[in-house]
Amino acid sequence: MGWMTWNFFADNIHEKDIREMADAMVASGMVEAGYNYIFIDDGWQGGRDNRNNIIADPEKFPSGIKALADYVHSKGIKLGIYSDAAQLTCAGYTASLGFEEQDAKTFASWDIDYLKYDYCHAPKDSATAVERYTKMSQALRKSGRDIVFGICEWGQRKPWHWAAEAGGQLWRTTYDVRDKWKNLSGQENAEGILDILDINAELHAYAGPGRWNDADMLVVGLYGKPGPSGDLGGTGMTDTEYQSQMSLWSIMASPLIATNDIRHMNEATKRILLNKEVIAVNQDPLGKQAERKVHDGTWDVLVKPLQNGDVAVAILNRGDAAKNYSINWPKLGLSGRYEVRDLWEHKTMGKGKGWKGRVQAHETKLFRLRKI
Ligand code: GLA
Repeated sequence: MGWMTWNFFADNIHEKDIREMADAMVASGMVEAGYNYIFIDDGWQGGRDNRNNIIADPEKFPSGIKALADYVHSKGIKLGIYSDAAQLTCAGYTASLGFEEQDAKTFASWDIDYLKYDYCHAPKDSATAVERYTKMSQALRKSGRDIVFGICEWGQRKPWHWAAEAGGQLWRTTYDVRDKWKNLSGQENAEGILDILDINAELHAYAGPGRWNDADMLVVGLYGKPGPSGDLGGTGMTDTEYQSQMSLWSIMASPLIATNDIRHMNEATKRILLNKEVIAVNQDPLGKQAERKVHDGTWDVLVKPLQNGDVAVAILNRGDAAKNYSINWPKLGLSGRYEVRDLWEHKTMGKGKGWKGRVQAHETKLFRLRKI
């Protein structure tokens, strides 16, 4: 869990903003709720020095990355950084191909905790991807520091089959999330929440502790801000839709990576991002990704077993009108009687063998079931 620079700042990042974000993550309760990484995305690089060491842009990071790492560490936050398995990154900055060991050592010397490794400007085939990702993960392992490795090739070469072996702890499963409910254009690489859900939900069997399907950042609270997630029809969503993203990403055990302006969050955004009962579903130590048990056009129902024997259930109304729904737990493979807690209402909703009620358009109910 954490906060990433990309969808709010794009590549216009500055150490001052990141320090402010770190302060705001503490002050707003984000860190306490579990968002304990700051991920610097693309745009930090300033080329290489005369010994080919990668350097930060001195205008954006006048104090250097190590000083920033010290600062965020002092706040109880870890620091992630970004590179790419080619000569240039997606936004056209210096990347790591051919300098894997040297860059890994540099990142370690800066006390970096995480590397997001992108795949722009690299060949399309899988064999090269496996080779380049393996090379960087080995370099990180040799760097002398424990650095989490996030693979980002957008699901195009089915990384769920090879990324764990190549040394990744998580891998993106789709193209970049846009701040929209669904892709109406049919254009590739213009994913909304439903598009990502439909890809990621099918991959539940591949996830587990230390190997996660990454459904990309939470766009909660961006409200159509111009920038990367505002592209390609990303004109923003309602709070109901943002709440759905949080529910669905949580039950799918995807990393929860906010990318909104933590310094200025409205009450709705705080309520969504800081819901501890929802976060507990996401972070449950059993580490299961929910299985989608119902997918019938209007309704999706996802089920995630939890470590203490409870079960999380998400009910999504994909339709454009509010509708009533009723479900019997045996239909989801759950026998017996359950007490149902609504994790958005923070209330016990009843006991028995099922649930019925009204679900707003694009709303996701998130329940925690306890056997009685
Ligand atoms: C790709 C990634 C994004 C972001 C940008 C940065 O598009 O998928 O998440 O890192 O590159 O340029």
